[in-house]
Amino acid sequence: MTPIEICKGVKYVGVNDRSTHKFEALWPLPNGVSYNSYLVIGSEATALIDSVELATLPALMANLNAEGIPAPSYLVINHMEPDHSGSIPEILRAFPDLKIVGNRLTLEMVKGFYGFSDASRMLEIKDGETLSLGDRELKFILTPMVHWPETMMTWLEDEGVLFSGDAFGTFGALNGAVLDSDMDTALYFREMYRYYSNIVGKYGAAVQRAFAKLKDLPLKYICSTHGPVWHARLNEAVDIYNRLSRYEGEPGATIVYGSMYGHTGAMAERLARQLSLRGVRNIRIHNASESSLSDMLADAFRYDILVVGSPTYSMTLFPPVSAFVNAIETRELRNRAFATFGSHTWAAVVEKTAGRVLATSKLESVGHMEMKQSLEADLDAQCADLAEKLVQKAATLAK
Ligand code: FEO
Repeated sequence: MTPIEICKGVKYVGVNDRSTHKFEALWPLPNGVSYNSYLVIGSEATALIDSVELATLPALMANLNAEGIPAPSYLVINHMEPDHSGSIPEILRAFPDLKIVGNRLTLEMVKGFYGFSDASRMLEIKDGETLSLGDRELKFILTPMVHWPETMMTWLEDEGVLFSGDAFGTFGALNGAVLDSDMDTALYFREMYRYYSNIVGKYGAAVQRAFAKLKDLPLKYICSTHGPVWHARLNEAVDIYNRLSRYEGEPGATIVYGSMYGHTGAMAERLARQLSLRGVRNIRIHNASESSLSDMLADAFRYDILVVGSPTYSMTLFPPVSAFVNAIETRELRNRAFATFGSHTWAAVVEKTAGRVLATSKLESVGHMEMKQSLEADLDAQCADLAEKLVQKAATLAK
């Protein structure tokens, strides 16, 4: 993608990655991902905001060397994860007069990751400080743990542009357009749930602290490090991130189950039917042996009812269900109508095991149903009872 003007003196110079199969070697990228990088051009100096993953450096360099593009005097590093920082050594070599701009932790990480510590080429900034580019200025807002401790955002007041790092980001490479108003954004909004829950999901409190710092800014453009530039649909992007970071679910249910011989799977289907009969419209059933952890997390973060089912397996949870439960616990998901179900041949352990794993999170179970060996005559009645409890609990949750 060649440089694209976002607004006066702000150009998109980022790149697409359609080759990497898994982000962080974990999360599937069926639609690719973009590593967004921007230029802010002032009367005296130009700043490059974030760089790109090392393998995609040639595309970034082609953009920076395009005709009429001024050489950057600064590289502002909002975030040091290598999908944005991997090109730093090459950029330093390509632009010998360029200075790195970051906070104390950023600059420590530049040294730690890349062995670069030339103080004459580093400009340390603190929260709220500014950098003049001549006729315009950048202001730095420290937003630790959105997604790493050094994370910050950069504010360009004259055009109302927030360079937000990973915040408001989403999976999906960009297909010709960069501004949300120039594309069909359905894919990116859908992928936002997956991106948030997979990558940033643990740090809801930090995202909320960042929101508090941003609340008085007259935002016109949000330039994230991944996905579209939010402008026409900026409020929708902000709303999704706000709800996700508050752990507020939308009406709907996610059922994640494991099943070796179909019994636990049948319980999932019957429970879904009972939820449907009670008016739940968005129901997502995941066979944990087939669904990706990525999709299961996205739905668990999206909907306000969460149910986990597993057979007893080696006296604990079925492994793919165990991985899901651990990922939920890691992300401290809360504010859900939550329940479990299990099946066993000679030892019932699911309720206790899932309960122990989730004891540190704030998920409180409204109930559990357990089946021994085969589908029992009263299974539908048990499903109806559990569905009723889930629906009633969901109605009381903070929205
Ligand atoms: Fe896109 Fe946390 O890196």
